[in-house]
Amino acid sequence: MASIAVIGTGYVGLTTGVCFSHLGHDVVCADVVPEKIERLSRGEPTILERGLEDLLRAGLKEGRLRFVLGAANAVADAEFVYLCVPTPQGADGSADMRYIEDAAREIAPLLRDGTVVINKSTVPVGSTRLVERALGRSDVSVVSNPEFLREGSAINDFLHPDRVVVGSADQSAAIRVASLYIGVPAPFMVTDPASAETIKYASNAFLATKLSFVNAVAAVCEAVGADVNDVVLGMGYDKRIGSEFLRPGPGWGGSCFPKDTRAMLRIAQDAGYDFNLLKGVLTVNDEQFERTAGKIVDLAGGAIEGQTVAVWGLTFKAGTDDLRESPSLEIIRRLLARGARVRAFDPAVTALPADLDLDVEVLPDPYAACEGAAVLAVLTEWDEFKWLDLDKVADALAAPRILDGRNLLDRSAVLRRGFTYRGIGRS
Ligand SMILES: NC(=O)c1ccc[n+]([C@@H]2O[C@H](COP(=O)([O-])OP(=O)(O)OC[C@H]3O[C@@H](n4cnc5c(N)ncnc54)[C@H](O)[C@@H]3O)[C@@H](O)[C@H]2O)c1
Repeated sequence: MASIAVIGTGYVGLTTGVCFSHLGHDVVCADVVPEKIERLSRGEPTILERGLEDLLRAGLKEGRLRFVLGAANAVADAEFVYLCVPTPQGADGSADMRYIEDAAREIAPLLRDGTVVINKSTVPVGSTRLVERALGRSDVSVVSNPEFLREGSAINDFLHPDRVVVGSADQSAAIRVASLYIGVPAPFMVTDPASAETIKYASNAFLATKLSFVNAVAAVCEAVGADVNDVVLGMGYDKRIGSEFLRPGPGWGGSCFPKDTRAMLRIAQDAGYDFNLLKGVLTVNDEQFERTAGKIVDLAGGAIEGQTVAVWGLTFKAGTDDLRESPSLEIIRRLLARGARVRAFDPAVTALPADLDLDVEVLPDPYAACEGAAVLAVLTEWDEFKWLDLDKVADALAAPRILDGRNLLDRSAVLRRGFTYRGIGRS
């Protein structure tokens, strides 16, 4: 079993740390936020993720998992160092590599001879070299091992991935990284660093393309009187297409797809290729936010100023507490700009962070959020929304109108109760 340091204990780093400790490795996780380290050391998860708490507590109890403040305190005994720090979007659309470079410089003098440093953060082509330069250590190998987990099922995705990709010019370092995954049943692929880095961006950009495509098909369905739910069902039976990621929605978001799609566009541009398809993917997404906001305004009678909109769902998808680039927040922003008031409920959110600067009243109860509202907008696909009492919802609303931004509700049940209903890609 190996000794592993994980730098950054966010969605990816924490999942990586607890899962490697579950696989039997000795893991030290580092972060720069003292409160995170304190909570994690007590066995309290800092993110909402199914199965995380059990693995976290087991790792701590069995002494295979520790949390320390600062990368420098994690790496001295490590054979492997995973970089899981943020790579946010920079001003020109490219990935901002500041956190990666800072972390690499911080740990450089402390690494043991022969350590393998691994980029698990999503990083552009050439980042393996960039980390090598920041480390300035010829006795340390740098490898790319991109992460494909989905928030909401991160633990399962890490332990049962569709594939593990390692990019390295150094075959022996790649094989050492592969050995960390013993016990993980997945195809294992070793390639060069540029290909590994491109696999990650191309995968996210493709998924974003699929979502924009289905949202554009939904717009066509509305125009021709088709039902997008049936259309995607019929499409998905075709094995060449597949049914995953064919669900229409209010627009896509989250911490990865928007920044990674823009970064892919930028990578292509810098290399001399104009990736027009991806420009269209981003445009369609922006249009989808606007179409969804517009539907809410239409339902409210054509003008929303001074009216209240009830919103169910704030996170970017169900099963996570992550609000980063959430479509729901983007639509709320557009409603507020038109003078609406917004009252919201989300099972994973008690308040919006102040830095979002969104004037939204977050309530602990879905019916209270509907009180006196002109429209209810369902914007995140939390399963529990399906089972809420529609009669209570109708009583609470000023008028029974629903925008089902995820085609989540049982449309006939909603209509039977006298609601005016609008979904995405269906009347
Ligand atoms: N979230 C996802 O679903 C997902 C999936 C695959 C890949 N990724 C990629 O993984 C990377 C991390 O994403 P995330 O969602 O986990 O980010 P995150 O913001 O949740 O976590 C990053 C953590 O790193 C910490 N950090 C920053 N600088 C540090 C330093 N010098 N030393 C120690 N800790 C430091 C931050 O405090 C934070 O806790 C990004 O590149 C992202 O694109 C994310």
